[in-house]
Amino acid sequence: MEKIKVENLDLFYDQTQALKNVHMSIQEKEVTAFIGPSGCGKSTFLKTLNRMNDLVEGCRITGSVTLDGVDVYGNMDLNVLRKRVGMVFQKPNPFPMSIYDNIAFGPRTHGIRSKVALDEIVEQSLRAAAIWEETKDRLKKSALGLSGGQQQRICIARALAVEPEVLLMDEPTSALDPISTLKIEDLVSELKNKYTIVIVTHNMQQAVRISDKTAFFLLGELVELDTTDRIFSMPKDKRTEDYITGRFG
Ligand SMILES: Nc1ncnc2c1ncn2[C@@H]1O[C@H](COP(=O)(O)OP(=O)(O)OP(=O)(O)O)[C@@H](O)[C@H]1O
Ligand SMILES: [Mg+2]
Repeated sequence: MEKIKVENLDLFYDQTQALKNVHMSIQEKEVTAFIGPSGCGKSTFLKTLNRMNDLVEGCRITGSVTLDGVDVYGNMDLNVLRKRVGMVFQKPNPFPMSIYDNIAFGPRTHGIRSKVALDEIVEQSLRAAAIWEETKDRLKKSALGLSGGQQQRICIARALAVEPEVLLMDEPTSALDPISTLKIEDLVSELKNKYTIVIVTHNMQQAVRISDKTAFFLLGELVELDTTDRIFSMPKDKRTEDYITGRFG
């Protein structure tokens, strides 16, 4: 099932074109990895999927992005879009508040007030992000007191708390040690049973380990999107081959 469809997408930052005529289909409950050299437009493209670029001055987008067939740039309510398409960033960015309040923040924004309901959401989200055991006895403590790897799992729990359908992750493990990285990778493999996941990574081994599909970007173009197996064993495009074999980038 197709979850997201992108057609004819061009994006400009003022005069500079950062994305060129991108077409992409993202399948439901799969992990799609974006790879490519620094500056090729991976983060820019990821952010077009939940309109995070709307906040960037001078950013102009043409083309279409649909979520379940509905135009994301049409009259879809932004709050609804961001609830359906959550995001986790490169640097863990918990809010300067308690672990509990970090997770309850989104649900509260969406009008959930009952303590019983919030307690349940907080526990379920922390469990889903594989951080419940480490935090259940310190929920009222600041999230900033956690390690980087724990903070990133808090950010994932915070994203899950509003029951998104799609999770966008921009290099979620690049600031983490190998053990925390493996925890997040295991988590991603677990979460794809319920969510559609799009993950940017500079680590090609990571793409191989966790993704079903891989998209290779170069200079604002989507060069190739295929099953991860094929991208890393027999890519169709010479530029993809050069990149995955380490000849540039
Ligand atoms: N807010 C912005 N204003 C102007 N130009 C930008 C902005 N954000 C990104 N760019 C430019 O758009 C291009 C794509 O940047 P982007 O951050 O999407 O690349 P990336 O593939 O995510 O790179 P990296 O792997 O280093 O994170 C770059 O040339 C970058 O300088
Ligand atoms: Mg980036």
